[in-house]
Amino acid sequence: MGKRIGLLTSGGDCPGLNAALRGFGKAALGRYGMELIGFTDGFRGLVHDRYTKLGYQELSGILADGGTILGTSRDKPHKMPNGTSGKTRDMTEEVIDHYERHKLDCLVCLGGGGTQKNAARLQRVGLNVVTLPKTIDNDVACTDTSFGFDTALGIATEAVDRLHSTATSHNRVIVVEIMGHRAGWLALGSGLAGGADVILIPEIPYDIEAVTQAIKERARFGKHFSIIAVAEGAMDRTQHAQVQKLVDAKNRASGKEERRVFSEQLDEFHRQHTNHTVRLTEQLSKRTEQESRLTILGHLLRGGTPSPRDRVLATQLGTTAAALVDAGQYGVMVAVRGDELVPVPLVEVASKKKLVPLEHAWVQTARRVGASFGD
Ligand code: F6P
Repeated sequence: MGKRIGLLTSGGDCPGLNAALRGFGKAALGRYGMELIGFTDGFRGLVHDRYTKLGYQELSGILADGGTILGTSRDKPHKMPNGTSGKTRDMTEEVIDHYERHKLDCLVCLGGGGTQKNAARLQRVGLNVVTLPKTIDNDVACTDTSFGFDTALGIATEAVDRLHSTATSHNRVIVVEIMGHRAGWLALGSGLAGGADVILIPEIPYDIEAVTQAIKERARFGKHFSIIAVAEGAMDRTQHAQVQKLVDAKNRASGKEERRVFSEQLDEFHRQHTNHTVRLTEQLSKRTEQESRLTILGHLLRGGTPSPRDRVLATQLGTTAAALVDAGQYGVMVAVRGDELVPVPLVEVASKKKLVPLEHAWVQTARRVGASFGD
């Protein structure tokens, strides 16, 4: 009898999820004789035992499709929404129950940072787990890259390219907000690839005056338009100092309750911060006296067909995960290291974030071609 495997996709969707499911599934079914069931809508399906059988039929014809055939959600087994009360409850026991009832040998979770954490928790309570890194944000720790990032980078770069021609025609400042959660990889990569004049990322707090001067300097050299690529998590120096204070306080907190309070304050800060690019665009318009416009790329970056590179990566990750499961190597995420795919212990991945190092080659290259980081 082959092994019985449960699969789920969790967190924000991204291009390449179906390619990875197909990669895992084809290798698991054809090469290793496994049986597969797919839980729907991420961990929600596992908690409520909603699933579908995955065979060749279901896995066929999906390689180039965006989204995920299994559906997804941001639910966490240990913090499931409890009715409309706004409270949550721990449903880990239900997960264990369903895992056992289906006689699973392993649960394969495809997701970003949050999913890695949830999977690590399930591993701690005794489930066999293997994960794959997916995210457009490129912020999953211990891996060079994740599938979804290359596609989003392509979409963001095309947007920056297109914004150039309209910015030039109207002599405008165009601010383009690019997803990436708390990391600046997407804004940095697309800003560099698209030749943005200013790139603002969370890792490098900016000074509005420095951004203004960069735009004015361009005008002095006859360039009356500017493209400002801004990561959704970018912050000016004051905002950054506020966040840092909360993070330090949270790290110093002695008890669980005190830590929870600082965590909530941090979450609230980030919730309030969501429209910062609106304020930034207004400020730049006033300070530079140039007409300014804002484009928010938002979920466009997550939709549609995966790039060829992401299809290849997702297929490699999926098939490698199947080989690891067959070998009984559990409790790992399949990571990319150069040209190799290697298993990394989940405990090393969970709770970490891969941010842009300040001296990263992309940062240095952007500086060398004259892009300003507003610092
Ligand atoms: O993690 C992917 C991502 O698209 C982030 O870039 C963004 O901050 C977040 O998800 C948006 O989440 P949601 O789709 O739940 O609004």
